[in-house]
Amino acid sequence: MLDNSSQLLLRHQLVDNETLLVNAPDALAREAKCLAHFYYFNLWHRYALPVHQFGAVLQQRASATVLYVPKEKNLARMLLANLAHNLVPSDTLYLVGGNKSGIKALAKQLGDDWHPAQKVASGNHCLLYRTQLKGAKAGHFELADYRSTYPLGQPAITVVNLPGVFSEQKLDAGTALLLQHLPAEMQGKVLDFACGSGVLAASIATRFPAVTHISASDVNAFAIEACKQTLSQVNPADSQVIASDGLDQVDGKFDWIISNPPFHTGQRTDYSIARDFIRSVPTHLTSKGRLMLVANNFLGYPELLREQFRNVREIVNNGRFHILEASQPC
Ligand SMILES: C[S@@+](CC[C@H](N)C(=O)[O-])C[C@H]1O[C@@H](n2cnc3c(N)ncnc32)[C@H](O)[C@@H]1O
Repeated sequence: MLDNSSQLLLRHQLVDNETLLVNAPDALAREAKCLAHFYYFNLWHRYALPVHQFGAVLQQRASATVLYVPKEKNLARMLLANLAHNLVPSDTLYLVGGNKSGIKALAKQLGDDWHPAQKVASGNHCLLYRTQLKGAKAGHFELADYRSTYPLGQPAITVVNLPGVFSEQKLDAGTALLLQHLPAEMQGKVLDFACGSGVLAASIATRFPAVTHISASDVNAFAIEACKQTLSQVNPADSQVIASDGLDQVDGKFDWIISNPPFHTGQRTDYSIARDFIRSVPTHLTSKGRLMLVANNFLGYPELLREQFRNVREIVNNGRFHILEASQPC
């Protein structure tokens, strides 16, 4: 099933095998056999052809390029700057997005590099615009120019963030509760699942010298990049940051799996990611391993956990979030 934006592109016959799709949410690139760059590992893994790219920085260009406009303003600006660096003035850039994605505002204020955007079409609750670069391509695009940081804890770690990463400006309230209630001792191998900026991984690496290895995984290319940078500030002896859909690409067993798991895909509530994660945790725990997660109270994770583990306990509940610990898989 193609996204509304992709259907609009198809209706106006704007995609052929030389088009470059940037940030596509669906299988259009595979169906049209065109170029594509993905920022979400799960989409790349599910829909990509070998020529398609995944990563935080777009390397390709094409004479017709489509940007699926993300709803996060600063992310949209960063992707536009990356495109301004890659494209040449004869290339056409199409912007497509839902009426509520912020595309209208973006099209009105593209910035100095671009000609004013022309509306090409609308329909299916989506809008489609066209623009071109004014002059020779912009000389400079560095991901580092878009990074932000905040200090956390005592001794302070520097949490590095990028546009589009969860809780970009400050520590999330659920994550804060989890950090307050980490066990007194942690040791061995630890996995931070759905790591975002890597705030949990880096805090654990700093607080627990008996932790010998830290893995962190996420589906979002910007989260992976931010987490690598956050971890590099605390320099754990042995660490890796993995692009993974759920735990599918994570190998090995861990003494601790720690998480503030997602329950959204874009703007939609999506419990399937956390449910699949909880089901696959047992194969990734050592015999004495434990899972510790934070969740909104209403999410019903205790029942899911009891289907998989003999020991499930609520460590704390502040009325909004609770911390759950599970061990001894059934
Ligand atoms: C609630 S945030 C937690 C981020 C970070 N651990 C924190 O506490 O700030 C959830 C994270 O899950 C990631 N995510 C969403 N879907 C995923 C999937 N299918 N597999 C792995 N990670 C996913 C998101 O990119 C996001 O970084």
